[in-house]
Amino acid sequence: MTGSAFIPPHPPRTAEAAPIWRGFFGERARNSVYGWSEKAFEIDHIRRQVFRFTVHIPLDPDAVQRVLQSNAANYAKPDIVKKLIAPMIGRGLLSSDGELWRKQRRIVAASFTPGAVETVAPIFGAAADVQAAHWVDGDTGDMAAEATATTMTIIADTLFSGDARLKTPEAMRNIAASLKAGGEVRVTAILGLPPLPWNKTMREGQRAQKALRRTLADVVRDRFPDGGDDFLGALIRDLIDQFGREEALPLAVDNAATFYLAGHETTANAVTWTLYTLSAQPDLQEQVAEEVRAALAEDDAATLADRVPLLRRVLDETLRLYPPVPRFDRQAIGEDELSGTRVEPGDIISIWPWVLHRHKALWDDPDMFDADRFLPEAKAEQHRFQYIPFGAGSRICVGMRFSIVEALTILAHWLAAWRFAPAPGHTVRPVGTVTLKPENGLPLVRHRRD
Ligand code: HEM
Repeated sequence: MTGSAFIPPHPPRTAEAAPIWRGFFGERARNSVYGWSEKAFEIDHIRRQVFRFTVHIPLDPDAVQRVLQSNAANYAKPDIVKKLIAPMIGRGLLSSDGELWRKQRRIVAASFTPGAVETVAPIFGAAADVQAAHWVDGDTGDMAAEATATTMTIIADTLFSGDARLKTPEAMRNIAASLKAGGEVRVTAILGLPPLPWNKTMREGQRAQKALRRTLADVVRDRFPDGGDDFLGALIRDLIDQFGREEALPLAVDNAATFYLAGHETTANAVTWTLYTLSAQPDLQEQVAEEVRAALAEDDAATLADRVPLLRRVLDETLRLYPPVPRFDRQAIGEDELSGTRVEPGDIISIWPWVLHRHKALWDDPDMFDADRFLPEAKAEQHRFQYIPFGAGSRICVGMRFSIVEALTILAHWLAAWRFAPAPGHTVRPVGTVTLKPENGLPLVRHRRD
């Protein structure tokens, strides 16, 4: 085992499932990874009636495979999710289905091939170094905020030629507010209510979404129709080619918003949680530091991520315990059966990496950190669908390679030059909304290495 029998924190579990109504109040409404029962991590399927919706949570990897791959044509993005996120990301790649999704996926895939990622990899390391330039030996900093600022710069620099409007502290605040409200807005949708701004979080979220959308629309309009020589430029040209000028403009804004939002907060969480698991395991952190220092000495930014296998295993194990997207959903189009349970048209299927990744039938000591689970021989014994931090099937995260190389590069640069230790008196608590973050950030003490 690599590591020190470390059990990173998770919210307390109840013995039995709580009644549905409790999910609409208090901590359960605010935090999607809070209030799970011990039993959920033992059984292979959960079926619950949540007001007008029947919700299935498949916890057998064969059933997850059926939803995401072998019978994926029967499972679309849910109507309520589309309705809720339309004001922000419209009909972009993440929130479309069928032919519209297929055409858009083909257009953007070219920007995320391994070769394309290698080309931008040096930008990842440079952004990490710029961010660390203001750290002082022995100071304490919120590494969640540092990671978010870095990945935001990277997304703006790699996909939008560094447009300054996408790198402001205000934009960062607006993203945080939008995602926080995203967690609560689901509650109203499930109750069958329109997403009214019924509390402060949701009012702030709506304001933030409008501001972000306006900024992205300005960025796209300034480039339309001639584009430029980057992701946004190619996106605009290809959308005009496929859909004509009139439809291309709103689709370009939808996709600019999709990639801006999906493309950095998730990776920032991956970096943050990895720094957390390493700060809690000093010996492992030293081994990783040695590895990344040797890898950086070779001075080949494009291949760095492939030369840090221990850090890669630590990242994979961290994404198992703290999946940045703890849940994503589908809606059944026709009938089906999952683990012997009937699925009716319109039923919601919630895929929960948070539960699958800690399920007792799938993992030994599931709550314990052990990076050796991702050694090639151990991985070979796992079901392909028991570990899905990036989703799976044809709708697997299009930015997966980009974000893995990005996270490894940022971490390598920071861990080679700095040692991170827990901030005294701070307790880490995971909170799930659209993404999974440590509540109130991640303060860590930073010590400069020689
Ligand atoms: C650690 C980082 C990341 C995680 C954990 C993550 C996770 C996911 C997951 C779980 C899905 C599938 C959702 C579903 O099937 O409903 C997804 C889709 C997607 N991700 Fe990521 N993501 C990450 C980074 C990125 C980055 C860096 C980008 C872009 C630069 C990105 C863009 C997208 C897009 C556009 C989709 C929709 C793909 C489609 O429907 O065809 N993601 N991501």
